[in-house]
Amino acid sequence: MISFSHVYKTYRGNEGRENHALRDVTLEVEKGEFVFMTGPSGAGKTTLFRLLSAFDRPSSGRTSVGGYDIATITAKELPFFRRRIGVVFQDFRLLRDRTTFDNVALPLEILGERRANIERRVLECLASVGLDDKKDEYPDQMSGGEQQRMAIARALVHRPGLIIADEPTGNLDPAMSREVMRLFDRANAQGTTIFIATHDHEMVRRAGKRVVEINRGQIREQRPETSELSLEGTWPSMTT
Ligand SMILES: Nc1ncnc2c1ncn2[C@@H]1O[C@H](COP(=O)(O)OP(=O)(O)O)[C@@H](O)[C@H]1O
Ligand SMILES: [Mg+2]
Repeated sequence: MISFSHVYKTYRGNEGRENHALRDVTLEVEKGEFVFMTGPSGAGKTTLFRLLSAFDRPSSGRTSVGGYDIATITAKELPFFRRRIGVVFQDFRLLRDRTTFDNVALPLEILGERRANIERRVLECLASVGLDDKKDEYPDQMSGGEQQRMAIARALVHRPGLIIADEPTGNLDPAMSREVMRLFDRANAQGTTIFIATHDHEMVRRAGKRVVEINRGQIREQRPETSELSLEGTWPSMTT
């Protein structure tokens, strides 16, 4: 599902000094896995996310996500790639001129779903994040936590094969964080691959999943003692 091999992302600072935001990153995530990425601020989490979601390209190395090569993905392929993934951005990226309902409906509209299906699925998703009573409000009328839940609903609504989330519980209280984690767990149980960056060590510890640590652009693995990984069975394909 995700295969990075010796990936660098290098920014050139003042006076031409090189800053490796990602340094020789090699990472394999199988279909159906649930992976946490932890690391301090500035470690490279968002940079890695920008590559996983093809909002940016690597400086060097091989980056494959869902069968697409991120270094060479074409403008024509991008919409097909994006339909297969659900992304929760650290800064949400909600559309200010669309209501909650219309923000969450967007991925289904892009897929050309029938209106009745869109209605049903969006309302179901909004209820699961506790926003069913806010469906006609606009992002600017909502709290940070509510906007975050809207962004999570939008990432889940089209049942993508891969969900990547950058600090998805950063604005939520502990009870809502647990609720959101249950949603990711449920999607994972249905075969969706999940990759979550977080600062929340307590949540990571409680979940008992695979943990990838990132620090100064370099990653280090921590496997759980009792691996819950199951690579058997048939997972929904990103290409069907
Ligand atoms: N567009 C950019 N131009 C230059 N440097 C950048 C850019 N984006 C990120 N960086 C640098 O890359 C490093 C990693 O940043 P980031 O991925 O945002 O970290 P995190 O999300 O873990 O807090 C930081 O040193 C940051 O200053
Ligand atoms: Mg970040």
